[in-house]
Amino acid sequence: METNNTAIRKYNVRTTFGLMEAPEHAEIPGLEPGMKGVPPSDATYVFDADRMRQLTMFWVGGFKALLIEGDPAAGKTSLVEQWHARLNVPLYKVPCSPTTESYRFIGQLLPTEEGRLQWKDGPVVTACREGTSVLLDEYNTLDPGEANALNMLLEGYSWTIPETGETIKPHPRTRFFATQNAVDSRAAVAGRNVQDVANDDRFSYMEVDYLKPELEEALVLRHLLAGRVDKAVAEPIAKVCVLVANKVREAFRSDAAGVDKPLSTRAVLRWAKYTVMYQGVMKTQGRSGLHFAIRQAVRMSPVMSRAVRETITLVAGYDENLVS
Ligand SMILES: Nc1ncnc2c1ncn2[C@@H]1O[C@H](COP(=O)(O)OP(=O)(O)O)[C@@H](O)[C@H]1O
Ligand SMILES: [Mg+2]
Repeated sequence: METNNTAIRKYNVRTTFGLMEAPEHAEIPGLEPGMKGVPPSDATYVFDADRMRQLTMFWVGGFKALLIEGDPAAGKTSLVEQWHARLNVPLYKVPCSPTTESYRFIGQLLPTEEGRLQWKDGPVVTACREGTSVLLDEYNTLDPGEANALNMLLEGYSWTIPETGETIKPHPRTRFFATQNAVDSRAAVAGRNVQDVANDDRFSYMEVDYLKPELEEALVLRHLLAGRVDKAVAEPIAKVCVLVANKVREAFRSDAAGVDKPLSTRAVLRWAKYTVMYQGVMKTQGRSGLHFAIRQAVRMSPVMSRAVRETITLVAGYDENLVS
């Protein structure tokens, strides 16, 4: 059996996560670099102090499973990925859908070249052997019956693979992360299942919200500056885009007519970049790059598009034709 074992290494919170609020000597245990399956690190990722504290408590407290909920694109998946990237811990990501069957997690018998059947570990069994992590992405789209197959392992109990008779006892460092859009969130996509209560009860819980405005603004600014945009140009764009995004998110949450989805951090980043690219051309035509660019960045219904452009006018202080 191939194993992916390596030694524990402690990482300083301030330097590893760029979190200057953390105590100077605070450390989080991860692994020595070099294991297969560690997600690539995103240097521009911003760690929020509250989320970090909650993840740290879960991680060092010996808990097994964490359910993370929040609006679409609030940053659920990337938080789990970047946490593992910085700590050099492999994370096996399983996208869930209504047709995902439990063998995708556990494993299956596959034919060899000689025509025999040979057991191949799925990501959950691999993580149980190694003491690494699994991310069950969009967990509540999964058929509850299939989710139940994971119950024993989620709690750290041993479990026998029916096909091989081998008993798997999860390594004590094995951790499960599930992300999902809240079922009661307006943005919840049709077809989300409310997981079986017994299954739900096995998870610690964490809510992820969009970044705080000052952090999101700093992130947008960093992306623009990385693209060699002048600071004097980038700063006002970052400010306006984040302000508008938060007004749209508020409108979405208060059921404002036509606003049928929130603006994600990802969408805000695209919008800011397109604004920089279009601003010059648009200006020569007497038109606003901000208003024009949002339509390239996000697909919106005509009603939502109108509402969002009105919000841009209010925040920026000029309309589509640069009239204040
Ligand atoms: N804290 C953050 N720092 C940097 N980028 C972020 C952050 N949160 C979200 N993003 C951006 O938003 C995108 C969507 O985040 P993601 O984690 O995929 O959302 P979710 O899983 O909640 O739908 C990411 O690809 C990333 O570019
Ligand atoms: Mg996600």
